Formats: sequence, C-alpha cells, structure tokens
Amino acid sequence: MGTVLVTGCDRGLGREFAVQYADAGYAVVATYQDLARRLPERDGMRHRALDVTDLAAFDRLAAELAGEPIDILVSNAGIGRDIRRLGEIDYAYVQRMLAVNTIGPLKLVESFRSNLAAGRERRLLIVSSAMGAIGANLSGGHYGYRASKAGLNAIGRSLAIDLFADGITVALLHPGWVRTAGGSDDAPLTAAESVAAMRDFVRRLGNHQTGGFYTYAGQPLPW
Ligand SMILES: NC(=O)c1ccc[n+]([C@@H]2O[C@H](COP(=O)([O-])OP(=O)(O)OC[C@H]3O[C@@H](n4cnc5c(N)ncnc54)[C@H](OP(=O)(O)O)[C@@H]3O)[C@@H](O)[C@H]2O)c1
Repeated sequence: MGTVLVTGCDRGLGREFAVQYADAGYAVVATYQDLARRLPERDGMRHRALDVTDLAAFDRLAAELAGEPIDILVSNAGIGRDIRRLGEIDYAYVQRMLAVNTIGPLKLVESFRSNLAAGRERRLLIVSSAMGAIGANLSGGHYGYRASKAGLNAIGRSLAIDLFADGITVALLHPGWVRTAGGSDDAPLTAAESVAAMRDFVRRLGNHQTGGFYTYAGQPLPW
C-alpha cells in the first residue's frame, strides 16, 4: 500500500479519510489546523500541523517530505457557513473562505506535486461542493462559499491538464450533504458513507475522467 496525505483531519470528512485510508493499509500523513485534535496514535499514521492559509507551513512540510512518494493527495479542508445576505456581507469571512477553500488547495498541489508524481497511484482528490456549480445555482446567496468552490473547480480543471503528463488523475468531488459540522445534523449521509463512496470512486477513476466534477458516488455534475 502507498501513502495518503489529507488536509483538515481535525474533524468531519478529513478525519474520516485519514481513518479509512489507515484501516485500508495505507500510510497516512494526517494534517490538522490544530494538532492538539490529532487522532489517536497508531502504526502507519503521522500527524502534522498544517493551516492551509499558512503558505510557509506548506513549504516546511514539503521540505520534510521531500523525496517521499504520495499515492493519493486529499484536499479536504474547507469552511462554509456563508449565511450573510446581500447587504450584510462579511468581507473578512469571504476572504478567509477564498484563502481556505481556493488558494490553500492550489498551494497544496504545488507543494506536493513531485511527491504525487513519484507515487504509484497518482490520484488527486479535491473535495469541492455542488454549491460551486454555477449552472445549477437556482437559489442565489452564499456568495463567498459558491465563489470559493467555483474557483476551486477552475483550479482543479487546470491542474488536471497541467498534471496529465505526470500521470496524475484529478477528481473534483461533491461529498453529498453530510452529517458533519460543515454539513448538517439532518443531512442524509454519514461521513463514513460519503468517504467510503469517494474512496471507491477515486480508486476506479480512469485517466480519461481526469478534471471532471462528480458526486461522491461518481455521477458527473454540471459546472
Ligand atoms: N458536509 C457537507 O455536507 C459538505 C457538502 C459539500 C462540501 N463539503 C466540503 O467537505 C469538506 C470537509 O467539510 P466537512 O463537512 O468535513 O466540515 P467540517 O466538519 O467543518 O470539517 C472541515 C475541516 O477543515 C478544517 N479546516 C478549516 N479551516 C482550515 C485551515 N485553515 N487549515 C486546515 N484545516 C482547516 C477544519 O478544521 P477546524 O475543525 O479547526 O475548523 C475541519 O477539520 C470541505 O471542503 C467542505 O466544503 C461538505
């Protein structure tokens, strides 16, 4: 088995990705906004601090992992809760959403591109959101979150093209509506169900599917 690096393992989907990949036998580099919330120690799992808005922190972790292959890179860390309506927009929060949801994933891939290219599986799994689908937006609002995920989709598509020659396959995934802090208590999916489905889809992903936008179950989504 290879190595997986996941962002945002403090809770929610990121934590579940780290646990499921470790259970499946992968070596896992679990990264956290707050290392104090790290998962229990277990063989094959390393814990590192990585605030995805701290560009220098990426450089430090990339230096530490230089030369180590990464088979699957999971860009998961994200923030939502974008409830302010037009006329009461919180611009500092919009800027933070762009920093976490859009710029962080780009820096992640730039930082670990050579590790990923050196892996056997060479999969980049980017957790996006159906809220980033411009053509499917029929309800308005959520300016910052929608823009951050639409921007992430644009970045993911370019990454798929630019990394194709390295043999890296990229999937932009909507995890479904999930019972996490970022989702809702009355959402239909558990984190375990969503992550299991995303892992299964990404394992089966062919390189002809790179750069696509899909649900957790692998159904294509409109942009
Ligand atoms: N749940 C859903 O229904 C749903 C639907 C569509 C898309 N998504 C996407 O799924 C991904 C995971 O969300 P979730 O549902 O698991 O929500 P969550 O429970 O709030 O988890 C988000 C994770 O990202 C971390 N994070 C936030 N800012 C960070 C930063 N600056 N640096 C590093 N980590 C940071 C959080 O850490 P803290 O605990 O410290 O905040 C947390 O571990 C996100 O990209 C989200 O947009 C979720």
